[in-house]
Amino acid sequence: MSEKGRDELQVSFVLKRNAWCGELGPDDVGREVVLNGWAARRRDHGGLIFIDLRDTTGLVQAVFDPRTSGEVHRAAEDVRPEYVLAVRCEVRARPEGTENPDMKTGAVEVLALEVEVLNTAETPPFEIRDDIGVDERIRLEYRYLDLRRDEMHSALKMRHRIVKVVHAYLDSERFTEIETPQLCKSTPEGARDYLVPSRVQPGRFYALPQSPQLFKQVLMVSGFDRYYQIARCFRDEDLRADRQPEFTQVDLEMSYVDEDDIIRTIDGMLAAVFAEALGIEIQTPLPRMPYSEAMERYGTDRPDLRFGMRMATLDEVFAGTGFKVFAEALKAGGSVRGMRVEGGGDMSRSELDAWNKSVQELGAGGLVWFIPEDGGMRSPVAKFLSEEELAGLKASLELETGDAAFVLAGPRASYNDIMHQLRGKVAEKMGVADASRFEFTWIVDFPLLEYDAVEKRYQSLHHPFTSPTEESLARLEEEPLAAKARAYDIVINGSEIGGGSIRIHRREVQEKMFRLLGIPEAEYRTKFGFLLDALNYGAPPHGGIALGLDRLAMLLAGRESIRDVIAFPKTQSASDLMTGAPDEVSPDQLRDLNLRPGPQQAQLDV
Ligand code: AMO
Repeated sequence: MSEKGRDELQVSFVLKRNAWCGELGPDDVGREVVLNGWAARRRDHGGLIFIDLRDTTGLVQAVFDPRTSGEVHRAAEDVRPEYVLAVRCEVRARPEGTENPDMKTGAVEVLALEVEVLNTAETPPFEIRDDIGVDERIRLEYRYLDLRRDEMHSALKMRHRIVKVVHAYLDSERFTEIETPQLCKSTPEGARDYLVPSRVQPGRFYALPQSPQLFKQVLMVSGFDRYYQIARCFRDEDLRADRQPEFTQVDLEMSYVDEDDIIRTIDGMLAAVFAEALGIEIQTPLPRMPYSEAMERYGTDRPDLRFGMRMATLDEVFAGTGFKVFAEALKAGGSVRGMRVEGGGDMSRSELDAWNKSVQELGAGGLVWFIPEDGGMRSPVAKFLSEEELAGLKASLELETGDAAFVLAGPRASYNDIMHQLRGKVAEKMGVADASRFEFTWIVDFPLLEYDAVEKRYQSLHHPFTSPTEESLARLEEEPLAAKARAYDIVINGSEIGGGSIRIHRREVQEKMFRLLGIPEAEYRTKFGFLLDALNYGAPPHGGIALGLDRLAMLLAGRESIRDVIAFPKTQSASDLMTGAPDEVSPDQLRDLNLRPGPQQAQLDV
């Protein structure tokens, strides 16, 4: 049997599965089953051979006993890791004392009665098990082996479960799933477009969608009322652990709604996802926080609320200070910002010095620390500050004994970001960001615009189709930066999981917005003429949101990188190390597309 299995020309097999490795348990004892799977590990124990058999459900230990069958035992002697086997076997309880509580099927084992070797395997470049500690580039190059590992199976199955729940939930809420094109008109939304040359129209290009934003708005004009799509999006932007050049959104749009309707819909969807995918019940409605509070308290619009370490502006406390560093920052129009570090009071001098060094690396001048002690305050600069200033600092940050305070002084905008990064690093070091906890917040009351000093014009914080609030619209031209958007982001554990807004549904308002953004009429007509025209024909009030499916799956699967919940992800330089994309194409292909080969590029560092 085994010899036949190794015949290169054999393509069919006899022993077809009727049970799954990872699902066998005490109830199956005595059953004869056929398993198909990989040899995960082989151990020779004085005549007995043990092979852990693996399929997508998990592992079970198979025993090859020469007393049961010499032929089967001989076949097992030749089995190497990752050989593909079909085994007819009997399930039996493991002998007392040999149960393995770390293994799901550890109470049982199977006794092999017949074996077919369906394929051999070369020695893999890394062992197929969790915690392999192998360079990610090797994992990506041999992705088929990497994906064979249990933790990758569970991550992708978690993603599958999320999608299933999303489909069921939105269907029950009367949403219709509609596909929108992948070959689109280029209307960049902040990132660069991926372009696709047209063969039949030389010199013209499609763009891959950065999101289905405009199509979904058009679908509202078409009366679908509630649209959704598990949409693939493409953005040519700098990549990070939570960004990929192609990623997936749970994208939706609703008609005749306001902010509360969208937020309520997503609250319900997330509650269903967490309940069914993780068995976690979340309390809805999910909390909301104004953008201004998030920036003031956490220095970011995506605060991680699993731990405290709240910040406060200390400008008033130090308004008349004699301490040069603070006084100079305030005089220059900057700010003094402090952060309470709960439980930081027992940090050693060298730890405190390390945090000072760390903020310098982040671009700040330095960090001043304070530790409340014996009714006073310990700090290298305490002697330069008055009693009132120290009391003010303590009160503003609500410092208690056992805490530390970290204070930075400098330009407000950049220091917000530095404080935010510092908060993340301190939390990580102190181990206070519990990975098994989920803290949600909606960020609301966003500004509509920000000023781009380089381009010397206003930019939308979300996108140009986001509606200003009624009050802001009236004073849009006079006070553009004071305008508030009807936008909302959903943040979980410090990660921006989704964002959306109520849209502009009146043509005049949309044109006003384009003008405010400094987009010339000819340009906005060329790019967005179809949308403006559609708005002319009875566009209903509408709004929507898109959630990053990859980020959501990463969070629920407890992974640190979205690459771990995407079967075939790309590297930092947007390469697929398994297939070798992007790659050169033949001169014929280029000629067909009326493209000329460019100068040979130096090999990119992937
Ligand atoms: P936005 O650009 O905020 O909004 O995207 C929505 C969500 O998509 C996820 N996301 C990404 N995930 C992985 N890799 C990326 N490169 C990436 N970029 C974004 C994030 C983000 O919150 N059309 C609007 C939505 C709307 O207004 O309805 C949009 O695309 O989780």
